[in-house]
Amino acid sequence: MWVKLKAVSSILSYLVIGIGLVAAAPRCYDTGNFTTNSTYGNNRDLLLDSLPSNASANGGFFNTTIGQGSDKVYALAMCKGDSTPERCFSLVNDTIHELMANCPNQKEAYSWTGDFSVVHYADHSFLGTLELEPSSAVYNTGNITSNLTEFDTVWESLIKNVMRKASNGSSSLKYATGEADVTVFPKIYSLMQCTPDLSKQDCDYCLRQSADSYVSCCHRKQGGGVERPNCLFRWDLYPFYTVNASTTVSLSPPPSPSSPPPQLLVLCHSTYNVLAGTKGGGISSRTLVIIVVVEICSCT
Ligand SMILES: *[C@@H]1O[C@H](CO)[C@@H](O)[C@H](O)[C@H]1NC(C)=O
Ligand SMILES: *[C@@H]1O[C@H](CO)[C@@H](O)[C@H](O)[C@H]1NC(C)=O
Ligand SMILES: *[C@@H]1O[C@H](CO)[C@@H](O)[C@H](O)[C@H]1NC(C)=O
Ligand SMILES: *[C@@H]1O[C@H](CO)[C@@H](O)[C@H](O)[C@H]1NC(C)=O
Ligand SMILES: *[C@@H]1O[C@H](CO)[C@@H](O)[C@H](O)[C@H]1NC(C)=O
Ligand SMILES: *[C@@H]1O[C@H](CO)[C@@H](O)[C@H](O)[C@H]1NC(C)=O
Ligand SMILES: *[C@@H]1O[C@H](CO)[C@@H](O)[C@H](O)[C@H]1NC(C)=O
Ligand SMILES: *[C@@H]1O[C@H](CO)[C@@H](O)[C@H](O)[C@H]1NC(C)=O
Ligand SMILES: *[C@@H]1O[C@H](CO)[C@@H](O)[C@H](O)[C@H]1NC(C)=O
Repeated sequence: MWVKLKAVSSILSYLVIGIGLVAAAPRCYDTGNFTTNSTYGNNRDLLLDSLPSNASANGGFFNTTIGQGSDKVYALAMCKGDSTPERCFSLVNDTIHELMANCPNQKEAYSWTGDFSVVHYADHSFLGTLELEPSSAVYNTGNITSNLTEFDTVWESLIKNVMRKASNGSSSLKYATGEADVTVFPKIYSLMQCTPDLSKQDCDYCLRQSADSYVSCCHRKQGGGVERPNCLFRWDLYPFYTVNASTTVSLSPPPSPSSPPPQLLVLCHSTYNVLAGTKGGGISSRTLVIIVVVEICSCT
């Protein structure tokens, strides 16, 4: 999970809900076990140990193998696209420790943690194979209470553009962020990422499924996202990533000259309990108090 649930006295906070077979990682596959001190087990441990340094030294994505025949282990590690090498190292290390603690002798396992890092290992190659489950969705319990017509239009356009840019990435990085103006409403922000071993089509499909899942579970919420083994989808009302000009898209629709009458749009007090792992300087909690009077125009 990339949002840690904390029991704080917040008015509103994020909830994690399962939208698939399993609500949250790690997932230990029931496709076979190895015994302690077996060659496969030793290979797994060696391989996992090498992932933090190799992933952080290779721009946040690394796939590798070790061993021969039935003792061969395949592994993949990926960090969120804006992670620094130090942050990536620490995220992958944490994910691996969680994985080994939860799946001590499984031949295949998968996990994500904290501020998004994915680790997957198996006794067979899974590179380039799209997996949609397990998945989990998170959303901010705050509701957008205004007329959603304009918001939805801008949101959908942002999502489409970020999705297009992320899936059009390279074989080493499929990642994009984007922001959009909703008249004088605070900007909306989105981040999407696929493991770059996916084809453009599979990446697009994975993100689309996630956006659809989000809309069907959490439409009208003030932020949220969906995480799957091969892709991450997230949006929010504040910038939760580090912007890099080469991976971002910006949508700023020009204001319509013939605006309908002004409407009062009030977003409630909301306390976001966001993002585990603040070692890299992330935001552990953030209070937004937004009371805005806006003129909502019909943008096309
Ligand atoms: C593997 O071990 C787990 C316990 O660690 C057990 O629940 C599971 O049934 C085993 N799976 C197989 C395929 O032997
Ligand atoms: C695994 O190997 C270690 C060191 O070689 C040994 O101390 C331990 O008893 C072994 N465990 C099993 C279950 O064989
Ligand atoms: C991965 O990291 C290990 C040390 O952690 C290093 O020995 C190995 O050469 C690296 N592999 C690659 C392919 O970079
Ligand atoms: C990662 O996977 C690609 C595609 O299968 C392969 O060409 C490459 O050699 C792999 N990298 C390592 C270090 O095994
Ligand atoms: C890796 O993570 C474990 C457990 O989370 C921690 O004890 C260890 O110090 C970490 N290692 C490094 C090099 O950060
Ligand atoms: C948001 O709306 C849902 C459904 O209408 C309602 O159950 C929930 O209590 C609302 N949340 C807040 C914080 O008002
Ligand atoms: C996709 O990426 C290629 C190469 O980076 C670029 O030339 C092209 O314009 C991009 N297409 C879209 C729709 O972003
Ligand atoms: C921005 O992204 C590009 C392409 O992925 C990368 O080469 C560059 O190092 C990034 N810049 C920063 C400051 O992270
Ligand atoms: C919502 O706003 C749009 C344009 O901003 C308008 O056409 C529509 O009638 C409004 N709907 C409601 C229920 O107020």
